[in-house]
Amino acid sequence: MTHPLEELRSSALREISEASDEQTLETVRVRYLGRSGSISAWADRMKSLSKEERPIAGKLLNETRNAVASAIQQSSDRLRATKEASELANIDISLPGTAVELGSLHPLTQMLDRGIGIFRRMGFALAEGPDVETEWHCFDALNTAPDHPARNEQDTFYLPDGRVLRTHTSTVQIRTMESTPPPIRVIAPGAAYRRDEVDATHAAQFHQIEGLYVDEDVSVADLKGTLEFFLRELFGSDSQVRFRPHYFPFTEPSFEIDVKSKALKGGEKWLEVCGCGMVHPAVFEKVNEARKDDAYDPEKWSGFAFGLGMDRLAMILFGVPDLRLFAGNDLRFLRQFA
Ligand code: PHE
Repeated sequence: MTHPLEELRSSALREISEASDEQTLETVRVRYLGRSGSISAWADRMKSLSKEERPIAGKLLNETRNAVASAIQQSSDRLRATKEASELANIDISLPGTAVELGSLHPLTQMLDRGIGIFRRMGFALAEGPDVETEWHCFDALNTAPDHPARNEQDTFYLPDGRVLRTHTSTVQIRTMESTPPPIRVIAPGAAYRRDEVDATHAAQFHQIEGLYVDEDVSVADLKGTLEFFLRELFGSDSQVRFRPHYFPFTEPSFEIDVKSKALKGGEKWLEVCGCGMVHPAVFEKVNEARKDDAYDPEKWSGFAFGLGMDRLAMILFGVPDLRLFAGNDLRFLRQFA
């Protein structure tokens, strides 16, 4: 004769194997193993059994409880796995994924970063100023007379309130000296604006790296050494660098720098890349007036300044024939620098 517990076990195992979803399985579990389930009821009944019956029933009860519990666990695992598999079956893992497009830096930004990196190694700190400037910072403080052609409306963007889009980054020389006493060694990368006729080599907005170094006994030799080093780092150590006398109101003496390098397209031509010179004492005086002190005493301090045309450098280094491509926003062009 089979023991009622054995019957209980086989009916439980059958119900478990027939349960086709987790909810049904849970109902079965509660019916047998729950607080008032039939297996639990047997445990309560143990006490009332005779001495002879108790060990046999006790052993059977344990076996039944373990068998049912493990069958439920297995069935539950199986049901969950089947469910997951059927969900995954709807996903075609051979389909191409959603592509994530990686951005990259604009060639002019890359060019500026390269330039900044070289000057930082020489100990130059970064300075900045606004693109919309006062006429005073753009011209007067830089010793540029009211009748200077750069101030003409044909050459400069004026705002109705009299401010200007800065025509060069030299404005940052003034702003830095206004806020900081010497010695100073800064570069200021940024945009500048002129009402140029737009063509392959001229744009209304262009980019410069301005430089200013003020200390005791700064000479043209320092200026020359610094800029020659910079240009050789950029164009290769075998490039030639030439300083030509020039005129800027805010430097004296002033120079323009040309580079010639085999590494460059159009090989044997001199290319103009930079304006520079020794800071004019009149500029120091203007700064002192604005600061209301004598921090930039021209008898004590001297300095050099320079302005590198970065769009031009980028055109040369990247072999870009037309400046307008930089602002054209054409991905076919920009992707080439990614
Ligand atoms: N600001 C001048 C320009 O834009 C360049 C320059 C900078 C010259 C500093 C001398 C000193 O042409």
